[in-house]
Amino acid sequence: MKGRVRTWCRYLPGYHALRMLWWWGKGGESRSLALLLLRRPRHLFQPYNTSTANRYPELFAFVRHQVADQPDSRLLSFGCARGEEIVSLRRLFGQAHIDGIDINRRNIAQARQRLAGDPSVRLHVAGDASVLPAASCDAVFALAVFRHGDLGGVKPAARCDRLIRFQDFEQVVTSLADSLRPGGLLCIRHANFLFSQTAVAQGFEPVLYQPACGSPVYGPDNLLMPSPAQVPVVFRKVPVQGG
Ligand SMILES: C[S@@+](CC[C@H](N)C(=O)[O-])C[C@H]1O[C@@H](n2cnc3c(N)ncnc32)[C@H](O)[C@@H]1O
Repeated sequence: MKGRVRTWCRYLPGYHALRMLWWWGKGGESRSLALLLLRRPRHLFQPYNTSTANRYPELFAFVRHQVADQPDSRLLSFGCARGEEIVSLRRLFGQAHIDGIDINRRNIAQARQRLAGDPSVRLHVAGDASVLPAASCDAVFALAVFRHGDLGGVKPAARCDRLIRFQDFEQVVTSLADSLRPGGLLCIRHANFLFSQTAVAQGFEPVLYQPACGSPVYGPDNLLMPSPAQVPVVFRKVPVQGG
């Protein structure tokens, strides 16, 4: 019922302006969200920083099984919010180096506080993975990033490009793909786009499927498309023959 009311409120004139004013007045985290939405940095996807500890236990366990935990292993939490995901990964990978990237400066400041004292974590404010050396990561996690919370609800929007665009998704996942070593794993979950519809996906093979999570799915034309029942969520970067 609450979700239905919120969905219909979105269509009322002035709803978004009022919501911004409300967030601004609340101060703190809400004001920082209002500022982020006003600034709309290039490649901003999900602006909300909802996260919890060990949010993806099966996916994390799968990756832990595939990737060795040693000091020269490197993981990337892309869209790491306030560092919750990095804390979960650290429980599984005691020795690996972990990078965290988030587009929201305030999130990274909070993640730095949370993870101070862990010398093998490095945090960056960025909207893609070009801040990392090419072919350096063993696993990249982009979980609940390539979506926008205002597209779903009771009646999904017919097109998404008012908020997020497939073309931006394609550019950013290409930078994530570049950051992976051959054989490395790319994890994408809770997304409004399908990685398989990007050109760079040709260099990857799906290795783990999970039931779709109910988020609406948009195609390369940014139009709503039927959601598949199962989606690939982990992709392996196929080593180039003779490379
Ligand atoms: C819902 S949180 C996901 C947190 C965590 N990955 C999880 O699943 O629990 C989405 C995060 O993505 C970040 N984000 C959105 N677009 C981004 C981009 N282009 N580059 C980096 N971070 C981005 C937001 O700032 C926010 O912290």
